[in-house]
Order: sequence, then C-alpha cells, then structure tokens
Amino acid sequence: VTVSPVDLRNVVAAKRDGKTLAPADIEAFVRAYVRGDASDALVASFLMAALLNGLDDTETLVLTTAMIESGRTVSFDALERPTVDKHSTGGVADGVTLVFAPLAAAMGLAVAKLSGRGLGHTGGTLDKLESIPGLRTDLTPEQIQRQVAEVGCAVAAQTADLVPADGAMYALRDATATVPSVPLIAASIMSKKLAVDTDLILLDVKAGSGAFMKTPEEARGLAAACRRLARDKGRACRVAVTDMSQPLGDSVGNALDIAEAIGILRGETRGRLRDLTVWFAGRASEALLDRAFDEACDLAARALDDGSALERFRAMVRAQGGDPAVADDPSSVLPAAPTVLRLLSDRTGWLASTSAEAIGLAAGTLGAGRARKGDPIDPSVGIVVHPKIGDRLEAGQDIGEIHARDEASAEVAATEVLAALDIAGSRVEAPPMVHEWME
Ligand code: URA
Repeated sequence: VTVSPVDLRNVVAAKRDGKTLAPADIEAFVRAYVRGDASDALVASFLMAALLNGLDDTETLVLTTAMIESGRTVSFDALERPTVDKHSTGGVADGVTLVFAPLAAAMGLAVAKLSGRGLGHTGGTLDKLESIPGLRTDLTPEQIQRQVAEVGCAVAAQTADLVPADGAMYALRDATATVPSVPLIAASIMSKKLAVDTDLILLDVKAGSGAFMKTPEEARGLAAACRRLARDKGRACRVAVTDMSQPLGDSVGNALDIAEAIGILRGETRGRLRDLTVWFAGRASEALLDRAFDEACDLAARALDDGSALERFRAMVRAQGGDPAVADDPSSVLPAAPTVLRLLSDRTGWLASTSAEAIGLAAGTLGAGRARKGDPIDPSVGIVVHPKIGDRLEAGQDIGEIHARDEASAEVAATEVLAALDIAGSRVEAPPMVHEWME
C-alpha cells in the first residue's frame, strides 16, 4: 500500500486527538519514515502526540514489530554457549554493558547486543565504545554472529540493516524532547532486543534522577511494558529495577567511561558500577548456566580480578577494529581533553542527593552529548565526580575533575556539578543498589 503524506498527517491527527491507531497506520508510518517518505517534522509530531496521549499495549506491540521488520534479524542457531543480551534503559555513568559483555563471555556465556547512543541527559554505550580509536559498531548480522562465536561478545549498533527504524527515531527523539515515554522507550529498547535472538534478555530498568523514569513505580511500569513485549514475542526476559538516583560510576563522558570500565576490568576499581555488573553477571549465570546466584557472583568477581574478563574485552575491541592496547594503557590510547580542572567541594557535610540528570546535562554541554540530530560528539570531554550519597565531604576536598575543551566551559560545568550536589548536616543512608528483581 502506498500512503500519501496527507494520510500520515491524519495518523498524527488521530493520535493528537487521543484516538487508538489501526495497526496498518502505525506500520505505514514506520515504513514511510525508513524509506525517507515522511519528514522529520511529521514524525516528530507523531512522537510528541504518542508521548502526550500514550500508546496502548497493542499499538506498542505493532510499533515494535514494525521497527523490527524495518531491517534484518540475527540468530545464533549453531552456537553451543547460551546467549544473553543485557540492556539498560539509560542512565548517567552507567557503564555496566561495557564490563558485563566481556565478563559474561569470560564466564562461559555469549553476549550479543545492539546498544544505543547518548539520549537526552544519558550516555550511550556506542558513543563510549567509539571513543576507542578505530573501533566500529556498524557490524553486519554476519559479523555479529562470527564475532560472538569467536570472541564470546559483540556490542553493535542499529544500522541500515538492523532495526533502522529505531536508528532514525532514536536520533529524532533525542533532538525533539520526545524521549521520556514508556511506550516509545519500550518499543525502542525491545525492537533492538527482539531483533537479536538470544536465550535471555536481561533488562536493567533505571529509576531516579539520572533515569528517564524518576521513581521505582514509574520504572516498574516501563519494566512491565518491556516484559509484555518479550512475552508476546515468546522470549525469556528478566528485569531488575535499579537505582539511578546518582551517577552509577564516577565518570560521565565517553572516553572517561571507557577508562573507568577498563579500571574495573583490570580488577583495580571498586564501587557500585563494579558491584552492579557483578550482580547482573550473577543473574545471567544463574539463569543460563544453572549456577547458584552467590557462587555465580563470586565467579564474576574472580573473572574481573584474574584478568580473564579484561582479556575478552581486548579481544572484542580487536575484533571490532579498535586499538587493543587500550586495555593495557587507556590513557595513551584514548583521546584526552586539553583542559582538566580539579573539582573541589564547596561545602562540608554528608552528600544527601545528587541530580544525576543535571550532571548528565552538564557533560552534554561540555560536548559529550548532542544538541541536534546527527551532531558530532567530543569523546574526550566529561565529568568525573567521586562522592556517592552518604559520603562525608569537607569544603575544599578534591571530589573529581572536569575534562573540557577550554577553561570557560570547564568553569561552567564545575558550577553546575556543585549545584547538583545536595549536602546535608547529618548522616544520610546510601540508597539500595537494586530496588526489585523480576524473574
Ligand atoms: N535506550 C534505548 O535503546 N531506547 C530508549 O528509548 C531509551 C533507552
């Protein structure tokens, strides 16, 4: 069926007026956009109408299916290891995937995943990985299959071949303030997960100031929407709702996140990012290798400490065309910003809360994110901020660094980061790492 632009306008009008869309209308919309027959303006209007008026479960399923069918799919029939795909709904300093993929590979699993780019105030695994010189994420389905068989893990992008509809809509949502919608996020994430046929989809649904879902209740709604899509497609999916009330790791940028992930893969860096990654590796191994959860977590910690996860990371970087020396000496390989400003606490007390969103936005303004669709990012810039909720701070204490293109932008970011920290006069409890686990 050919649909004229006028028909698509009617689809937007129907959603604007709060109507439920017919499957054929949603399918026509996605097809037209991927073919280049629907303008960004028209599609952005559709996305905003869907954000404001919602999509019901059937509309969300039809949208997700149309997005999957906009490209090819990947399967792993010949593989002996069980396959897992772990995905985060998006956060700040959320480098779990960077560590999880090689770690799970070192533990006998195979990890195949399509990741995303930075979105809104959140960072994107693809942007982070591409800060490694030479590394490519635009793998073909055949390259993903081969790499997963040979290395045990591959982290790739949606491309012209793979879920192209998500590639196009994701960038448009980033540029048009149409990200925080449960059905749009669920369709975006699950189209990428369902296009790759793994034995288990492991979802990390983030809740808090650095997430799109600000409360655990909202996050449960997103988790339920994702689980429904997996169930309707006959796929195993387990979900954790985890804390994003503060940056998970300490580094918010692109090359900076890679350096932090390598510190964890080298067994050198401790903290919540390592702990949550070990937790997910434990869950994956429990589900797919029949291990007791605690024992699986011990094995995961050992694989970080004995270098076996690092060795898989090196192999993954090499297989994707990147410089494997990054695993041994990140600072000599990764791009570095010309200005590094030390961040000093301006108050004394206990860290009570951190606006992770404000820190993510400050990193974006430094150049780590995109203001407009298709903008280049600067892989070298970003923010390192060490304190976590509950930590004691002294005025003048060294609490991090701003990596910037120049002094002026570094000063602006430093002010924004300090304003994002809420300091209390009495002791504060650290938030839980995992709010809920849904098997
Ligand atoms: N991650 C995705 O892949 N898509 C979204 O919409 C949000 C997070």
